[in-house]
Amino acid sequence: MKVISITNQKGGVGKTTSAINIAYFLSKMGKRVLLLDFDPQGNATSGLGVDKNELNLTMADVVAGEAALKDVILETEYKGLSLAPATPVLANTEVELANVQGRFTRLKTALETVREDYDYVILDSPPSLSLLTVNGFIASDFLVLPVQAEFYAMEGLGQLLESMKLVKKGMNPGLELLGVLPTMVDSRTTLSGQVHEEIKKFFPGKVFKTPIPRNIRLAEAPSHGVPVGVYDRFSKGSWAYKAVAKEIVARIEGENNG
Ligand SMILES: Nc1ncnc2c1ncn2[C@@H]1O[C@H](COP(=O)(O)OP(=O)(O)O)[C@@H](O)[C@H]1O
Ligand SMILES: [Mg+2]
Repeated sequence: MKVISITNQKGGVGKTTSAINIAYFLSKMGKRVLLLDFDPQGNATSGLGVDKNELNLTMADVVAGEAALKDVILETEYKGLSLAPATPVLANTEVELANVQGRFTRLKTALETVREDYDYVILDSPPSLSLLTVNGFIASDFLVLPVQAEFYAMEGLGQLLESMKLVKKGMNPGLELLGVLPTMVDSRTTLSGQVHEEIKKFFPGKVFKTPIPRNIRLAEAPSHGVPVGVYDRFSKGSWAYKAVAKEIVARIEGENNG
């Protein structure tokens, strides 16, 4: 089981969109995938069509130590894709956790219990470098960093890499940056292209070959509660996430190196 955090402390850069669609396409490749919603906004949960008001157990119960992860996980209608849902209650749980012993390893401990059940865990992170995010880093094998191809794209990335370094020095020496994913790339604007180039310079060898284009289908799919591959599998956004999922498997499993 490999755990991948989709992370960037900025909001609106495409973390949730990437988490849902990468998870979906990994499952289409025959992998057993758990999409773990670790953002109190619960957008990955609603993006898969799950009504947050109807949930009895969520990741908040897991983090609080009041439920087993196995009891929280829902099967989706897609073969091989399961969901560990979240709601805004997770934000309260995070506050309550602040002084509790073992607060950094809650997620890691929970994931140990499902190690045999999944090939990939895709973790959707909150837009902050919070206790939840650090739990995610400590529980993860890899980070995938979506970066929106816009003017302030690189802002805050230094801080994120610093947090990653601290976690590597401390509780999770094995943590690796798997790749940087340019998102909302608009080939019609020079700025977008320039930022894409800048991202490649800043992260040599780390940037995924297929950038994610700005594509309205990607923005529409969550309101229908489905991955883009279901909503419009011939859209540019769908093709791009499919290619990225393949590249992730190639990078991790070493299949002809992409
Ligand atoms: N490639 C894209 N093209 C067009 N819209 C996108 C794209 N990626 C994300 N969006 C939209 O942008 C908004 C922010 O994306 P989201 O994935 O929720 O970011 P985050 O999880 O980082 O906050 C959402 O409304 C989403 O539907
Ligand atoms: Mg999000």
